[in-house]
Amino acid sequence: MIKKNGTVYRLNTPNTTLVLQADTAQILYYGARLPAGDAFAAVAPLGRRFFSAPGTNDYTECSVIVEHADGSFASQFLFSRAKTYTEKPVLPDLPSSYGEGRSLELKYTDPVTRVSLYIQYTVFEDSDVIAVSSRVVNGSKKPVRLRRLMSLQCDLIGTEQEVVTFNGTWARERHKTSRQVGRGIFINDSKGGSSSHERNPFLLIKGKEVYGFNLVYSGNHKEVAECGESGRMRVLTGLNDYLFDWTLAPGESFYAPEAVMACAPDEDALSARMHAFVAEHIVRGKWKKRERPVLFNNWEGTYFDFNAEKIEEMARAAAALGAELFVLDDGWFGHRNDDTSSLGDWFDNVEKTGGGLAALAERVRAQGLSFGIWVEPEMISEDSELYRARPNFAMKIPGREPFRMRNQLMLNMADERVQNYVVRAVTDVLSRSGAAYVKWDYNRSMTDCFGKGIAGGEYFHRYMLGLYRVLFKLQKRFPAVLFEGCAGGGGRFDLGMLCFFPQIWTSDDTDARERIAIQEGTSYAYPQSAMGAHVSACPNHQTGNSNPMAARFNVACGGVLGYELDPCALTEGERAEIAEQIAFYKEHRRLLQFGQQYRLEGENAAGFITVARDGTAVAVVNALHYSPAEPPVTVRFKGLEPSAVYEVRLCGSERTCTATGALLMQADIPVPLPDAVQTMRENSGCLRSAMFLLKRVRA
Ligand code: GLA
Repeated sequence: MIKKNGTVYRLNTPNTTLVLQADTAQILYYGARLPAGDAFAAVAPLGRRFFSAPGTNDYTECSVIVEHADGSFASQFLFSRAKTYTEKPVLPDLPSSYGEGRSLELKYTDPVTRVSLYIQYTVFEDSDVIAVSSRVVNGSKKPVRLRRLMSLQCDLIGTEQEVVTFNGTWARERHKTSRQVGRGIFINDSKGGSSSHERNPFLLIKGKEVYGFNLVYSGNHKEVAECGESGRMRVLTGLNDYLFDWTLAPGESFYAPEAVMACAPDEDALSARMHAFVAEHIVRGKWKKRERPVLFNNWEGTYFDFNAEKIEEMARAAAALGAELFVLDDGWFGHRNDDTSSLGDWFDNVEKTGGGLAALAERVRAQGLSFGIWVEPEMISEDSELYRARPNFAMKIPGREPFRMRNQLMLNMADERVQNYVVRAVTDVLSRSGAAYVKWDYNRSMTDCFGKGIAGGEYFHRYMLGLYRVLFKLQKRFPAVLFEGCAGGGGRFDLGMLCFFPQIWTSDDTDARERIAIQEGTSYAYPQSAMGAHVSACPNHQTGNSNPMAARFNVACGGVLGYELDPCALTEGERAEIAEQIAFYKEHRRLLQFGQQYRLEGENAAGFITVARDGTAVAVVNALHYSPAEPPVTVRFKGLEPSAVYEVRLCGSERTCTATGALLMQADIPVPLPDAVQTMRENSGCLRSAMFLLKRVRA
């Protein structure tokens, strides 16, 4: 709901209120919902703004920098008008949130240059999230250069706040990292062309309230938290201005990607709001809220070494265990037998596929499974027919030796001809295989950014616009296909990708023990239905650890379940166990994929609980360490109704007890874990894990 009083706009969600003073560009309040009636004069002197530009004595990092035709940088954006919309205006060429939400657009114009800045807020009442976007329009008669346009500025109060980010690297994504900035400046960003393994765009500020900020973008991003002597903390989020320089001809506009923000009393409530927002306003199409299939992927089972017989045999074995989808990973095209060749040659390796992809897909489908396929369309190998025919499609700087990662180069997706080639190539793969699922991979970062005729300062963003153009087309052409994003694991886990790909491969690290922190970190901003999570073979290929099959399953249940191993190599006991796991998962799939998930912490414990509206819940508790004579591992459950009575069953046993939600959430509940020494003897990694099924037996 948006209410106006003079130039003061009050944006209400059921649990939060944002108050903006349009003429002075001030944030008067952002926090828990306020009753109607305040005039806000009491807080106006704090001087919190929602945009800023050079040209005043405010030397805090600013949100917009325009270099005018005379070379000057000062802008004075004066309030010109406000407009409200009942529908959310569309952001052209960029992915953005959608759905019912009232919007407010504020316009500011520089009287000297006639350059305008538009800031738009959309209120999503069902999730307590507010989307924010910014646009600059060059209303002058001369070109200007946009040197920075952040999507969102939100000034908060307090130097004591904790700044929380989600950091890592390949196979160790999104580990929660907290620090205090004090009086100083903190930057979280990416510069390699993607949202990155290293620094997710999601930012959390924890003070008296918890604020969350995220960006609907998959390229270079930047989040700033700066705290000055005035005690004001400025938060900026948006496109990274690293190597950014965008020329706007007279009359032209530049749209910054959309940012989102939410405010909540604690981290759990904030995550719940972000999850609801992603599920309702980011993920779209057929697979929005639709149960996702249990898949088997051959990657860790075979790597590049397979033929059609092997794939058919694996599919048969997977089907017998209850799988629904078989995914043929890397190595089916060109003459690819390792990672040195064939990217770009999306035609069948006739020998490995036993006559072609169409025939192999049929053989998989004949086992009663649907067929899925891996592609990495933004890449090119120098050893490929595509490269030999079109070397100018590669992202390279003429006269320079390109920097190679995983032996490959990237395509110059900023070029429309390359975009059209990619659309054709992927369309072809999907049409001839009839694939129901695509794993869209991206296995390196950008280095040699160059495209003929493309200004260097525009390159990174033009690449993203090119990629999004391709994805918009494919999404329209293949509305029934389930896309899973991937970038060497979780290197592009962001809201931009989730607008096209309802789920994303969370990490190449499939060790259940490692996955606890990775999935937990991811869960701060993204719901479990977005996280691909697979059970893989032991010893684990990334770490060498061996964890019990049950523990591997328990952790993978925290996301969209898959298996990534050779089902033909399993013992009979393992096959029986997996068949049972899949049956259990299918029985509780709606709850596990779309229930409200909370992180669980306790004494030496981490895990999650996923709660359905009907009061059913699944909880997984993992012991983080083992030492002899350790104190009991305990946990406090979350998300239950305090006064309701629950029956709690320890899965894999007959042990049950009943307790009120209040007791389960307020007392330290000891977790009966498998015997540590026994588990150690059998499995070197020793992840001890317990799963509980909770049922509400009395409201
Ligand atoms: C990336 C992905 C893996 C797998 C390989 C194939 O690393 O993250 O899951 O698909 O590529 O080369």
